[in-house]
Amino acid sequence: MSPFIRTPALQFIVRIGILGTGDVGSRLGTKLVSLGNEVRMGSRKAPNPKAAKWAKANGPKASAGTFADAAKFGEVVFNCTAGSVSLEALKQAGASNFAGKVLVDVANPLDFSKGMPPTLTVCNTDSLGEQIQRAFPDAKVVKALNTMGNEVMVDPGLVPGEHDTFVCGNDAQAKAKVVEVLHAFGWENPIDLGDITAARGLEMLLPIWVRLMGTLKTRNFNFKIAR
Ligand SMILES: NC(=O)c1ccc[n+]([C@@H]2O[C@H](COP(=O)([O-])OP(=O)(O)OC[C@H]3O[C@@H](n4cnc5c(N)ncnc54)[C@H](OP(=O)(O)O)[C@@H]3O)[C@@H](O)[C@H]2O)c1
Repeated sequence: MSPFIRTPALQFIVRIGILGTGDVGSRLGTKLVSLGNEVRMGSRKAPNPKAAKWAKANGPKASAGTFADAAKFGEVVFNCTAGSVSLEALKQAGASNFAGKVLVDVANPLDFSKGMPPTLTVCNTDSLGEQIQRAFPDAKVVKALNTMGNEVMVDPGLVPGEHDTFVCGNDAQAKAKVVEVLHAFGWENPIDLGDITAARGLEMLLPIWVRLMGTLKTRNFNFKIAR
């Protein structure tokens, strides 16, 4: 049975681990708490001031700990760490703490070390999503939500009209669970791109996303697949 128990109010009650204390972790964590879930945010070291502030602001269903605490707590775990260090962060989270679980990979392998625009640390014939799946074979990695700003992730209505979100991963049931989460966020028809190798294309959208942000001078835009 799906761990997402929907109520008539389109809520699903589940324990979620969020790895990452940045804008993405906070945004997703807040939305997931608002939908009725218990959410634990993780960082390299605990206590972490950003995680503590987030937990305080989000009430009794929100808590904070280390990456390992959050991974262990979550029935579903979100990777919201900087993509260039996600493998290290997941190692710190402890493979056994998220073995067999859905690991939603929202990260992008961006290298800002030479300034803007960032380059990709991996691309073309490989991707961060695949690297994570290879390094943690017992996790059910689903790439999702990496192709838009965090504001739009949980509020697609910020962008007028129809526009698209994507999932890919090797495990059909894991993808179905993530699609349920996306439905709860307001995404009606996420496009399933197949196995985790589709993460290459999803991550390679980032250079054009970054360029568009500069040109359009807003983060509230998204890709629409016309067909
Ligand atoms: N910002 C967006 O709107 C957006 C949109 C789509 C996708 N993304 C992707 O989502 C991910 C999160 O983005 P973000 O802007 O929220 O946060 P971020 O600044 O990219 O990452 C913050 C997290 O990375 C961890 N971290 C940093 N250095 C580390 C290291 N050496 N080892 C282990 N962990 C380390 C931090 O740990 P501590 O908590 O311990 O400091 C923190 O939890 C990124 O991969 C980004 O590319 C972002």
